[in-house]
Amino acid sequence: SGLADIDPSRVEVVRNASPAVPPPSSGLKFGHTFTDHMLTIPWNVVSGWGVPKIQPYGPLALDPSCTVLHYAQTIFEGMKAYRHDNGKVTLFRPDMNMKRMNTSAARIALPTFDGEALLEIIKQLIRIDKDWIPKEPGHSLYVRPTLIGTQKAVGVGPPSDALLFVILSPVGPYYPKGFKPVSLYGTTEYVRATPGGTGAFKLGVNYAPGILPQKQAAELGYAQNLWLHGPEHYLTEVGTMNMFVVFKKEDGTFELVTPPLDGMILPGVTRDSVLSLARQHVPGLPEKLVVSERPVTMAEVKEASEKGRLVEMFGAGTAAVISPVDRIGYLGEDVHVPTGPDGMGPVSRPIWKELVGRQTGEIESDWSVEI
Ligand code: COI
Repeated sequence: SGLADIDPSRVEVVRNASPAVPPPSSGLKFGHTFTDHMLTIPWNVVSGWGVPKIQPYGPLALDPSCTVLHYAQTIFEGMKAYRHDNGKVTLFRPDMNMKRMNTSAARIALPTFDGEALLEIIKQLIRIDKDWIPKEPGHSLYVRPTLIGTQKAVGVGPPSDALLFVILSPVGPYYPKGFKPVSLYGTTEYVRATPGGTGAFKLGVNYAPGILPQKQAAELGYAQNLWLHGPEHYLTEVGTMNMFVVFKKEDGTFELVTPPLDGMILPGVTRDSVLSLARQHVPGLPEKLVVSERPVTMAEVKEASEKGRLVEMFGAGTAAVISPVDRIGYLGEDVHVPTGPDGMGPVSRPIWKELVGRQTGEIESDWSVEI
């Protein structure tokens, strides 16, 4: 069509006249601190994408009727930027986030866009606020692109107007005192996703319904939900993360298992990275390791735990990177999951090391993109 796409050459920059002093890195709480600037790009069904504006961080003015506030027309992404000792700033696999954001937009009838063009403007935004990127190990800048429907009307339909915005949040390690294994409550009362549903897209609407189950799991003494599906209790995801299990087979072979992308699983960038590193057999992994994207049931996990064939289990996501699991509350009893002295296991440990090395650029790879 003849509609305007996102155009980096049209960017307008309004500098924050009263920039803040970034707080000490040691006190950062995930997603609570934001930088001096944000990016906004409006969209209209007649004219397409409008002028991208990098401007002081601050509240958005939204009409109370606008569709996002009523029908959850909102999608988001999460990716991280790292600052290196030599002043270099890099993003980790941002092309994956741009592609997924377009897939998510299309799924809820929000406008799609040129992902490379948006990425170029995001890089410009990060360069402006680069002094906010903490340099300490395990620290980074969490980048949160968001797209909302802003049509001023309570009718349900594809919105005539939308707003894409990007905010930046300096973050520390998810587990400041080293890996702390989490306990999971095997949730059989609620589902995160269903066949034909929206579980494979990064929509805001997938997250709000998980908060009450999480709260209830916490009341029972568990840190997160293990989302199960169907009468077979297939394992799907952990809290807001993808999930991996490691079994040891009779012949001593390790099997790294994660559920397949069957429409109910979020196609995570960390998930993809873990699979890729395991298949590349990075240094330190067990000699005999097979990688499977296949369904896995609670019965299989429970039996493996009882027979000593359950090696480890972990969540994988952008925010926490790797999150080891030490037990699963399931139908009234606890299934024990082994963890090493550092919290991790024989498969997650080498993968985490390689992954973090590539994220920070200590290990060279084309996953790290200089901005
Ligand atoms: C993750 O990075 O694991 C996420 O899903 C982001 C979370 C803050 C919603």
